[in-house]
Amino acid sequence: MSLVVIGLVLSSALWALRPDNRPTRTPPSGAGPSGSTVVLPEEKVPLVTGDEAIHEIFIRAGCVVCHEIPGVPEAKGRVGPPLVLGSTGKRRLGDPAYRGKARTVHEYVIESVLEPDRFVVPGYPSRTMPAWYGSKLSALALEKIARYLEQQTGDEENEG
Ligand code: HEC
Repeated sequence: MSLVVIGLVLSSALWALRPDNRPTRTPPSGAGPSGSTVVLPEEKVPLVTGDEAIHEIFIRAGCVVCHEIPGVPEAKGRVGPPLVLGSTGKRRLGDPAYRGKARTVHEYVIESVLEPDRFVVPGYPSRTMPAWYGSKLSALALEKIARYLEQQTGDEENEG
């Protein structure tokens, strides 16, 4: 029951945090619409155990504020790239600027969540994705996230 309450509180908090409720067609050039910065306060994000359904994990963790995620209608964020690692993951690993340790797309997703600034996706702002997810997401939650995202495909550019 209390989980439901937390969920409701979090959803309204996330709603209030939405960068802009009007649909924007701003190209993903870095900061949010007209230079506004999206900040997700750490205290708004509860611990995610991984027992939640994947959809719930993305909402609770606040990923939906900054990312589009196939199959998750709430995920309409434009601050970061659409999470279609099934399409983009291999390219990241092969990028000459990539200095991370991941060998597979699965590992790359986990690394990106735990250490977002190890590789900054070209065209997107650095030090914007929270660096504290390691203290909020259980190993199981990370596994589920990686398993889901490595299978998603789509158009990264998203026609602006
Ligand atoms: C406050 C905004 C914000 C939040 C919240 C956020 N991200 Fe990000 N994310 C970004 C930005 C900006 C980038 C691109 C810059 C970079 O690589 O660090 C990014 C990059 C990524 C990447 C690399 C994508 C690629 O195409 O290579 C993954 C994976 C990712 N985020 C997953 C997540 C997940 C999962 C969550 C929730 C647990 C999350 N993000 C929450 C802003 C955010």
